[in-house]
Amino acid sequence: MTVHFIGAGPGAADLLTLRGRDLIAACSVCLYAGSLVPTGVLAHCPAGARVVNTAALSLDDIMEEIAAAHAKGFDVARLHSGDLSIWSAMGEQLRRLRALKIPYDVTPGVPAFAAAAAALGVELTLPGVAQSVILTRTLGRASPIPAGESLAAFAATGATLAVHLSVQALADVVEQLVPHYGADCPVAVVWRASWPDQQVIRATLGTIAIGPEIDRTALILVGRTLAAEGFSESRLYAGDYDRRYRPVGAEPRFPEKP
Ligand SMILES: C[S@@+](CC[C@H](N)C(=O)[O-])C[C@H]1O[C@@H](n2cnc3c(N)ncnc32)[C@H](O)[C@@H]1O
Repeated sequence: MTVHFIGAGPGAADLLTLRGRDLIAACSVCLYAGSLVPTGVLAHCPAGARVVNTAALSLDDIMEEIAAAHAKGFDVARLHSGDLSIWSAMGEQLRRLRALKIPYDVTPGVPAFAAAAAALGVELTLPGVAQSVILTRTLGRASPIPAGESLAAFAATGATLAVHLSVQALADVVEQLVPHYGADCPVAVVWRASWPDQQVIRATLGTIAIGPEIDRTALILVGRTLAAEGFSESRLYAGDYDRRYRPVGAEPRFPEKP
């Protein structure tokens, strides 16, 4: 018996990995974080599976569900939205499973920031503009922010920011970022990236405004990469760039064929 943690993607039911789909189809029990996991993904559960929305359950309740499945020898598909490596509460579940000696594995998913970037049609790392993306959030009730991880500290780097779990504090986010990025810096709010009713609001830090329908399933992306046109082309594909897969010149650095 194994608990399969599966990233269920940002919303669109077809933004699920083939491995994730096949694992869901093979598990007699499916526990899903119903606040964000798209119901279309649940269509892959086998007929007769026990399918439980964990949105209203405590960690103890969830572990009881898993222990009950374990006692019966049933595999469990444990679904969280997006990818599991960020804000999934997977860490505490894995720790309990290790203590109980219940086997598990992890299948990644498409994170919301990637779906939001796709909706915008942008690359978040552009040569000479930004070479880092910071995935962060602002203060929430459930999790304190460690000292040193303030928005202002990240903003001082000039990297592209993907601010999660914070759209309700948009005005505060903007206020903290303007001193670092400038009021003319591009910003986008992407609501329900990849959902059928996805909305994209593009503006600058000085002009951004959102309607009341933009609730918590939204990402704030900030940085010059969002609207850059004057960036350099990557050296990797430059005709005169000597590299392993395309040796150039009389004395290439990697003369042997790859
Ligand atoms: C609890 S976190 C989950 C993040 C998720 N594990 C991931 O990989 O993206 C929830 C936050 O992710 C963002 N989010 C999740 N799904 C989204 C979507 N489809 N569109 C925009 N933002 C989304 C929002 O900022 C939301 O408040």
